[in-house]
Amino acid sequence: MTVALETVELGRDWGGLRVLHDVSLTVRASERHAIIGPNGAGKSTLFSMVSGRIRPSRGRILFEGRDVSSLAEHRRARLGISQTFQRSALFDNLSTLDNLTLALARATRHRRFRPAAQRALRARAYEQLGQVELRGRASVPAGQLAHGERRRLELSLALATEPRLLLFDEPAAGLTDPERATFVEIVRQLPAAITVLLVEHDLDVVKALATTVTVLDAGRVIAQGTPEEVGRDGRVREAYLGRRSRLASDMASGVGSPPARTGGPAASAGRRSDGSGGGDAPC
Ligand SMILES: Nc1ncnc2c1ncn2[C@@H]1O[C@H](COP(=O)(O)OP(=O)(O)OP(=O)(O)O)[C@@H](O)[C@H]1O
Ligand SMILES: [Mg+2]
Repeated sequence: MTVALETVELGRDWGGLRVLHDVSLTVRASERHAIIGPNGAGKSTLFSMVSGRIRPSRGRILFEGRDVSSLAEHRRARLGISQTFQRSALFDNLSTLDNLTLALARATRHRRFRPAAQRALRARAYEQLGQVELRGRASVPAGQLAHGERRRLELSLALATEPRLLLFDEPAAGLTDPERATFVEIVRQLPAAITVLLVEHDLDVVKALATTVTVLDAGRVIAQGTPEEVGRDGRVREAYLGRRSRLASDMASGVGSPPARTGGPAASAGRRSDGSGGGDAPC
């Protein structure tokens, strides 16, 4: 088994409060690994420590066997850890194609932008827009793209760095049902050489994408396994109290199928709807 990412007793405190308790996690190369859990479980905190946006209070992070715990975010990016979605990375006045061309120029460190090199990069960018179904929007300013299209452009910018580990924090948040289905299909078609780690509330997206699910609750790992296994886990159902039967049935059914195009409450068992830590209708 080749390990892409390992966290070793990784912990984080905020203002003296321990929000992540020594989490040890192994993500195998090529895996599609989802982290789920109720609001405030520590998912984004864990995620941001992997990307390098925040520093751990304790523990270590190994990427492909190398300790990256103290490396800055941009140094980790250079090693192959890429995070979506960095909205600031998009230039709203520039076209979709120009945004990606610039990202490719940065990634390939084109310092002197000669016309021939520029043409080659633009051609490559146009080619790569196909991967995120945006060729038809190549000349549209990024600021005029629909939400789902922006997400896809941001994904293509992340792919421009040729990552080996791609991190998504709530990629489906705010997407319409068709946008969500398109997005899932694109991620499903990413090459196996890219390991995917995602934090996601939308259990349909988790079912459709993840081969392994880790469940966090109150800063601790309470379960790990296939989507069906964690859906059957008593502690997981307890953590999702009030939604327990829905979680189990959502995770156990239709694993591997794309999310339904028509939404509904079952499509968002953990999604924040009122800031109260899960405002779904009772099961
Ligand atoms: N910058 C911060 N300052 C202080 N406390 C923070 C900060 N970021 C997160 N926390 C706290 O850490 C805990 C875990 O937060 P985190 O954002 O990691 O949870 P989460 O699982 O991503 O939640 P959600 O599902 O709502 O996104 C919460 O109690 C949160 O209030
Ligand atoms: Mg979060």
